[in-house]
Amino acid sequence: MPPQCYVDTSGGHNACYTCHQSHTVPSPPNRVGDGWQQNRLPSGPDLSRNPWRNLVVPPEPRSPLPHPLDDWLRVDNYAAGLSAGTQPRMPAVHGYSQGAAAFQTDGFAKDGSGWVAIRYKPFPGEFWPTNGSFGDVLIRLPARFRQRQGTTDQATYRMNLALLELQILGLEAVSIRAVEEAQFGADLDGDGRLGTALRLTDRERYFGDAQSTATQPMVYPEGTEFLHALRYPAVNANGRVVPSRRFKELRYMRKLRVLSTAELDSRLGNERQEQVEGSGFVLTRNDSGFYDNRFGWEIGGWIEARDGHLRVQTAEETRFCLGCHGFIGTPIDSTFAFARKLPGPAGWRYQQVRGLPDAANRGGQTAEYAEYLQRTGGWDEYESNSELHANWQRNATGTLNDISRLIVPSPKRARALSRAYLSIVASQNFRLGRTALTAAGARVMTATDGALPLPRSARIDDWDLRLDWTRVPLPVAPPPKAEAIAEPHGQSD
Ligand code: HEC
Ligand code: HEC
Repeated sequence: MPPQCYVDTSGGHNACYTCHQSHTVPSPPNRVGDGWQQNRLPSGPDLSRNPWRNLVVPPEPRSPLPHPLDDWLRVDNYAAGLSAGTQPRMPAVHGYSQGAAAFQTDGFAKDGSGWVAIRYKPFPGEFWPTNGSFGDVLIRLPARFRQRQGTTDQATYRMNLALLELQILGLEAVSIRAVEEAQFGADLDGDGRLGTALRLTDRERYFGDAQSTATQPMVYPEGTEFLHALRYPAVNANGRVVPSRRFKELRYMRKLRVLSTAELDSRLGNERQEQVEGSGFVLTRNDSGFYDNRFGWEIGGWIEARDGHLRVQTAEETRFCLGCHGFIGTPIDSTFAFARKLPGPAGWRYQQVRGLPDAANRGGQTAEYAEYLQRTGGWDEYESNSELHANWQRNATGTLNDISRLIVPSPKRARALSRAYLSIVASQNFRLGRTALTAAGARVMTATDGALPLPRSARIDDWDLRLDWTRVPLPVAPPPKAEAIAEPHGQSD
C-alpha cells in the first residue's frame, strides 16, 4: 500500500480515485474493480499505523554532499551502473542519461537497441516533477516484432508499435508516418486499395516475424519490456528546471506471459484471500533476478546507494512496486504511461512535458489536471506543495495549454526537493517512503484509528486513465527544442 492511502480525506478531498477504480470498460484485463476503496481507511493491526514515516516526519537534513548540488545531479550514475554490472544487469541504452540526445526524433534509441521513447502525459499527483521527479518511459518489443524474415526492419517495428498502440489506447485507427502499403502487401488504412497509408486500422495479427501473434485489446504481447527512469529536477545553465542526468531510480518490467481472464481472476482471488488471512506472500527473485507481479509481468529496479551509485532494490523495496502495478483498478495490463501516450507519431519521441495540453480523460468532461486539482482543493495528494497550490489559485479556470506551467517546479523548489530526497538517500530508508516532502505533510495520517473515511458523495467512478486528445489542440509541429539536460552551472546555490 503506497503512502497515498494514508491521506486524511475527512475534508472531502479525493486524490484516491486515480488508483482505485471500477470501470464499465468492456472486458479489460484489469479485473480488480476497487473503486470502493476510495471510501475505506486502511485498517487492521498491520495497516492502521502509517508505515511511511518519511512522509509524517521528513528525515533530518543530512551532512553536505561531496560536491555542489548542481554538479552532483550531473553525474551519470547510469553509465557507471552499466559498466559496474549489477545483477540483474540494467538494460543498456547508450547515452540514456543524456535524455533526448540518445533518441532519434521518431523516438528510436540511436544505439539500435530497439528501445523506443514515448511522449505521454504524466499520471496526476506523485509523478509530476513539482512533486519530486521527472520521468521518462521507454518500450521495447521482442526481436520478432522488429524483424522481417529474420532481418531487422524498422518499418515493420514501427507498424507493430502502432498496432499495439491501437490495442492499448482502444482506438479505431491511429495516424502513422506515410508508408507504401505494397511494402506490407496489406490495406493498412482500410480504404479498400493499396496506396500510401497515413493511418493504420486494427488487424488480427502483428506484422513481420510476429505474424503468429494475435492482437488483443488492452493486452501487451509476451516479451514486451518497459523502462522508467526517475530523475531529479535540476537547474541548468539557463536557470531552467530540467531532468537531471543522475537517475534517482531505474525501473523495469517485462511481460512474462499473457494470462487468460480465468487465470487473472484466480490470481486476484488468491491475493484477496491472502489479505484476508493476513498471510501475505513471499516475494522471491526469479532466474533473471526480477520479481513476479503475479499478473503476468516481472518487475524490478535500481535505486541510489548512499554514495549515489545505482544498486539493485531489495525484495522489501520491490514489494512497493507490486501494489500499483497489479492490484488496483486503474492500470491497463498492469501499466500506466503507454495508455497516456500522445497518439500517433507525435507520441513517438523522448518525453517532454513542455507544450503538452491538459487533455481530458476518455469520457471526461473537464481537463484532467484541472479536475484533479479541483478534487484535491488545488493540492498534491499530501497537501504539502504550496507552490503548486499558489500556481493553481492563480490559474484556476480554463484548460491549460501547457501543463509544464503547472507541474514543473521553480528552481528554488527544485533544489529544495532534491536536497530533501538526498536526505532519504543518505539514510537509505526507502522502506519508510521515497517521497521527499519539503514540509511535513499537512494531511498525512499517523494512524487511521478514529479517522473518518471519504464521504460516499465524494467518490468518483468510471475514471479512465486514457486521454481524449481530440478536444485539445494537439501539438502537431515538433515540440520546442529539447532542453539540454543540466549543463555545467559553475556554482551551487
Ligand atoms: C497511487 C495510487 C494510489 C492512491 C492515490 C491511493 N491508493 Fe489506496 N492502495 C493503492 C495500492 C497499490 C494498494 C494496495 C493494493 C493491494 O495490494 O491489495 C492500496 C490499498 C488501499 C486500501 C486497502 C487496504 C487493505 O485493507 O488491504 C485502502 C483502504 C486504500 N488503499 C484506501 C485509499 C484511500 C482512502 C486513498 C485516498 C486517500 C487511496 N487509497 C489512494 C494505491 C493507491
Ligand atoms: C504509487 C504507485 C506506483 C508505485 C508504487 C510504482 N509505480 Fe511504476 N508507475 C506508476 C505510474 C502512475 C506510472 C506512470 C508514470 C507517469 O505517468 O509519469 C508508472 C510507470 C512505471 C513503468 C513504465 C511502464 C508503465 O507502467 O507505465 C515501469 C517499468 C514501472 N513503473 C516500474 C515500477 C517499479 C519497478 C516500481 C517499484 C520500484 C514501481 N513502478 C512503483 C505507479 C507506480
